[in-house]
Amino acid sequence: MSETENSNLWWKNAVVYCLDIETFFDSDGDGIGDLPGLHEQIDYIAELGVTCLWLMPFYPTPNRDDGYDITDYYGVDQRLGSLGDVVELIRAANNRGIRVIADLVVNHTSAQHPWFQAARSSKESPFRDFYIWRSNPPPDTSAEVVFPDQENSLWELDEQTGEWYFHRFYKQQPDLNISNPRVRREITKMMAFWLQLGMSGFRVDAVPFLIETMGLGAEALAGFGEPHGYLRSLRSFVSQRNGEAILLGEVNLPYEQQLEFFGPTGDELSMMFEFIGMQHLYLALARADSEPLVNALKQRPAIPPASQWATFVRNHDELTLDKLPPSQRQEVFDAFGPEKRMQLYGRGLKRRLPPMLNGDPQRIRMVYSLLFSLPGTPVLFYGEEIGMGENLKAEGRKAVRTPMQWTSQPNGGFSTAPRQQLISDMAEDGFGPEMINVLAQRGDTDSLLSFVTQLVHRYRDCPELGWGEFKVIDQPHRGVLAHTCTWQGRAVLAVHNFSDKPVTMSLTLPDFTGHVLRDLFGGANCEVSSSGSAELSLDGYGYRWLRAYRKEDRWV
Ligand code: NOJ
Repeated sequence: MSETENSNLWWKNAVVYCLDIETFFDSDGDGIGDLPGLHEQIDYIAELGVTCLWLMPFYPTPNRDDGYDITDYYGVDQRLGSLGDVVELIRAANNRGIRVIADLVVNHTSAQHPWFQAARSSKESPFRDFYIWRSNPPPDTSAEVVFPDQENSLWELDEQTGEWYFHRFYKQQPDLNISNPRVRREITKMMAFWLQLGMSGFRVDAVPFLIETMGLGAEALAGFGEPHGYLRSLRSFVSQRNGEAILLGEVNLPYEQQLEFFGPTGDELSMMFEFIGMQHLYLALARADSEPLVNALKQRPAIPPASQWATFVRNHDELTLDKLPPSQRQEVFDAFGPEKRMQLYGRGLKRRLPPMLNGDPQRIRMVYSLLFSLPGTPVLFYGEEIGMGENLKAEGRKAVRTPMQWTSQPNGGFSTAPRQQLISDMAEDGFGPEMINVLAQRGDTDSLLSFVTQLVHRYRDCPELGWGEFKVIDQPHRGVLAHTCTWQGRAVLAVHNFSDKPVTMSLTLPDFTGHVLRDLFGGANCEVSSSGSAELSLDGYGYRWLRAYRKEDRWV
């Protein structure tokens, strides 16, 4: 691929930052973050080095699922601002080299969406078929619900017409019927609207559920052949409207099944979150043994050249461990969330990383260094860059959706509203704003914020991390992961120590015989001998990135 093509595929080595406008920065003192507030802080995001901003749902919503229940796909929740504010934000972000993507939530609407209101009013409603109904009592689906604390069936009886409607998530979120061509037309029209306003694509919610046809078979998607045909058509539509726009999909499935969502030629989702690697990372951390992660990465299938994995440590939901066998999940629970109040839905954790690691700065940095050095495009959830914690008293997933901590002032500088008026309580237990905030860290070159900023910039300097071929380098320490990413004659070697014991190791690097390994974080360089070996040391929880140069190369 030529340099030009490389830069077209900007998502291959982007740095994505996810935030919820309502918890980021409140500009008008009503206790709720808003678009003008985010706009005010855009230089903070730019300074971090982020190249893609993912906005969680900001549409009008009754907020039964943190905005993932939408009543108007063309609007902006009035608590957050206006459409004009969205356009201003996109422009401000673009001016700083940051693309903006929005959550696309079309598996379901809110039950208060006018379509559903019309659909439930009568069986003859022209909107009835926008949703999925059944007239006879449903079977027991309690084992399939996504939120077992709130739901016990995927079907809800609607009294008005005496039929049941299907909802994969909460009952307040009826599933759209994508086998209806009118629904599909509405979806593309709405995507076109946001692309036209300047969005660079979408984070697509719940993709496997979106394209499932509810046992209706292939004819349900007439014209597309099969569900993946529909996903392909969405990608092709998006690309026609905006050649650089992406679909970043949520597909929490085993690798082999995930692969199908890229499409054999990379013509479905552009990127997918790396849920399997993330879950094995936590198992590796719990065991102080890199093996679970190494094994997962070795099984990670090759993907089409323009496709990409979106790597992450934390997202806005429960930290799901659903793809680990129960005994391994229990190991992670024991290590990082032993109390019931720290766990959620029997499959995940309510915590952010720093409290799970008892605030150990070296270990936290090791994890972020690893995140940025693994092949893929890293995604940060707001507040990770300063080491924010959670609020375990908050219900469910709200524990990690606490307001951004800007200063040590009341409400962490997030809002001037009285505390009880805030959209959500602040993080606590030693990780609140008095301990952790942007202002203190911005001026401190030793802070986590400075470290993560440096990681972001080093990652951007090293396209081989996003583009390259990944290889695990064998070495004798179970606690260590050593890997290389190689691309177009360039290579980065990264070494990470999952254990608290310092190690010295000899790495066999036949491809780099006679090269100098230059430490990208200012540590000592090291030479690869003529027999192809290099001696390296790491502190407990140590990490290093080294780039391989021949002596005659320009060291840039
Ligand atoms: C996945 C989102 O990440 C989650 O927050 C939401 O509740 C469900 N999809 C339903 O939209």
